Amino acid sequence: MAPTSPPRHAPPTDDPTVAELLAARPHLTMHAMDGLVLESVPLNRIADAAGTPTWVYGAGTMRARYRSLAQALATAGLNAELHYAMKANDHLAVIRLFAAEGAGADVVSEGELRRARAAGIPPAHIVFSGVGKSERDLRLALAEDIGQINVESAEELDMLSALAAGMGRIARIALRVNPDVDAATHAKIATGRAGDKFGIPWADAAALYARAAALPGIAPTGLATHIGSQILSLAPFRAAYARIAALVAGLRVAGQSVETVDCGGGLGIPYRNEPAPGPNGLAGALRAAFHNLDVRLKLEPGRWLVAPAGVLLSTVVLTRQTAGTRFVVLDAAMNDLIRPAMYDAWHAVVPLSAADAVAPVTPADIVGPVCESGDTFARNRLLPLLARNARVAILDAGAYGSVMSSTYNARPLAAEIMVDGARWAVIRDRQTHAALWQGERVPDFVA
Ligand code: LLP
Repeated sequence: MAPTSPPRHAPPTDDPTVAELLAARPHLTMHAMDGLVLESVPLNRIADAAGTPTWVYGAGTMRARYRSLAQALATAGLNAELHYAMKANDHLAVIRLFAAEGAGADVVSEGELRRARAAGIPPAHIVFSGVGKSERDLRLALAEDIGQINVESAEELDMLSALAAGMGRIARIALRVNPDVDAATHAKIATGRAGDKFGIPWADAAALYARAAALPGIAPTGLATHIGSQILSLAPFRAAYARIAALVAGLRVAGQSVETVDCGGGLGIPYRNEPAPGPNGLAGALRAAFHNLDVRLKLEPGRWLVAPAGVLLSTVVLTRQTAGTRFVVLDAAMNDLIRPAMYDAWHAVVPLSAADAVAPVTPADIVGPVCESGDTFARNRLLPLLARNARVAILDAGAYGSVMSSTYNARPLAAEIMVDGARWAVIRDRQTHAALWQGERVPDFVA
């Protein structure tokens, strides 16, 4: 019979150490007495008060990241607006923070559109993306008169034209173009290859733009593209933007007006301290493609703004040693942070205690209590011998963390905390157990 467990390999020796991880994340510091500190708040203090698992976000860190991205675009001489991709972290406090910095929002559902409005984003600063907007979604977008609807197909264009004409509205649209570029990221989050479900094949875009210009209720204002997420090399951005820039030039030669290009999101972050292009790299790629074209650029960054600003705090429930493996079982699980299970994502795990952080390391699997082997945060990771009740922070969890949580195994949604310098506040209570079955009904025929 084939073996049922994967073979064990020696732990990778190129994983960054705790010291290297913290050196690359200046908002996180290790203090001899207080342990791991986010901005100016010891994370142990938060765990004492709020329990674990708990998400903690640094507001100062998010603001600083927003400003450095905006600054990089300005320094490159680009006329660019930022539309925060709310799907990365849609907490009202996070949206409100970026709104205060001047950001608009990129939304992909009725819920996100309503959330953006609830957080105070003006309709004119909202872009609606997505491959399957329903009639109901489009009606709401038209009723709110949002700034831009990114149309992904000829079918959607016709649907939108009929609705807009019927409502007496004009929809400002960008055509989302699929540039057929491989973003060299995880296959599940690559969106710009010809076989992906997203966007209009780039060879069809010019004809569809001309058709859009002639349709009632439609005002084409530009093009959009988004080739994927967690992109760590500039080459795919350059290739995609070159295609879009060529399309803009071609459309203008054909007499169309093109005012704006929405360049999507996708800028990756160094989860494992990998080399990453950062805002200046992205700004350079944008400049190379668009600085001669006199277009207003829009960007839809999500992960880059919020991922590094957030951690997931967790407590060791117990440790166990099997024949081949030392398991550290946490009180956080795949229902909280699904990225390792879903994308084989690597997230750093750092002890909260300064003594733990400098203790000798030994390989361990960091797992959650959910009844699946996929409930594994890290395999064969070099970590100090963490004892029961030791606490850890899972780093870079501010994006696609809490938003992707579920209550699988009847595990309540974790609490959320926001830190701002030395202040902190609970921004979402831990879900109660009773709330898990609120709204459920048992019909007579089973009672
Ligand atoms: N714009 C559009 C149209 C998008 O589809 C996305 C992300 C973004 C912007 C923002 O991309 P970002 O800057 O965050 O890379 N759950 C996955 C990521 C899915 C991204 C989906 N679309 C993960 O945990 O890695």
